[in-house]
Amino acid sequence: MITLRFVYISLSGNTASFVRRMSQYLEERHGDAIAIETVDIKELIREDHSFYAMQGDFVAFLPTYLEGGNGIDNGDQEILTNPLGDFIAFEDNFKNCLGIVGSGNRNFNNQYCLTAKQYSQRFGFPVLDDFEMRGMTDDIKRIAEKIEKLYKI
Ligand SMILES: Cc1cc2nc3c(=O)[nH]c(=O)nc-3n(C[C@H](O)[C@H](O)[C@H](O)COP(=O)(O)O)c2cc1C
Repeated sequence: MITLRFVYISLSGNTASFVRRMSQYLEERHGDAIAIETVDIKELIREDHSFYAMQGDFVAFLPTYLEGGNGIDNGDQEILTNPLGDFIAFEDNFKNCLGIVGSGNRNFNNQYCLTAKQYSQRFGFPVLDDFEMRGMTDDIKRIAEKIEKLYKI
């Protein structure tokens, strides 16, 4: 059995919904051949659990929350999502990160999914893909396919 690990943060529920729906899709396709473990960073903090070292490869999911600006010469100040970065930095967790999926809203133009790109530069893993808001069925299928390739399933 192959264990897929998804680490995410979600403030208004869109990313959580995407990860849940994509996990269901993968479980329907692979049944008992896979097990999915999710780490909800907001929940981890709310319940006052401490961060820990991941015991295997994972994919990160990160929505974008930036303070104002245009993403070119200002407005790239990350707000609210920083705990995901802290978790990825904790105990070298970034070494187990296969890549990051950004989410956001295209109305933010140059700032669209900017934080995922910044994490990719900071930690040295790839941006695997992106989706808007809760993500559409096509996004789920496309990103699930990339995850299948990463885990060779
Ligand atoms: C205060 C605020 C700032 C945001 N800034 C950006 C941004 O800079 N770029 C972007 O692509 N989306 C931005 N968004 C859109 C969110 O990333 C988008 O709604 C996302 O789906 C939220 O995910 P969540 O529901 O999992 O928290 C912003 C949303 C809010 C409320």
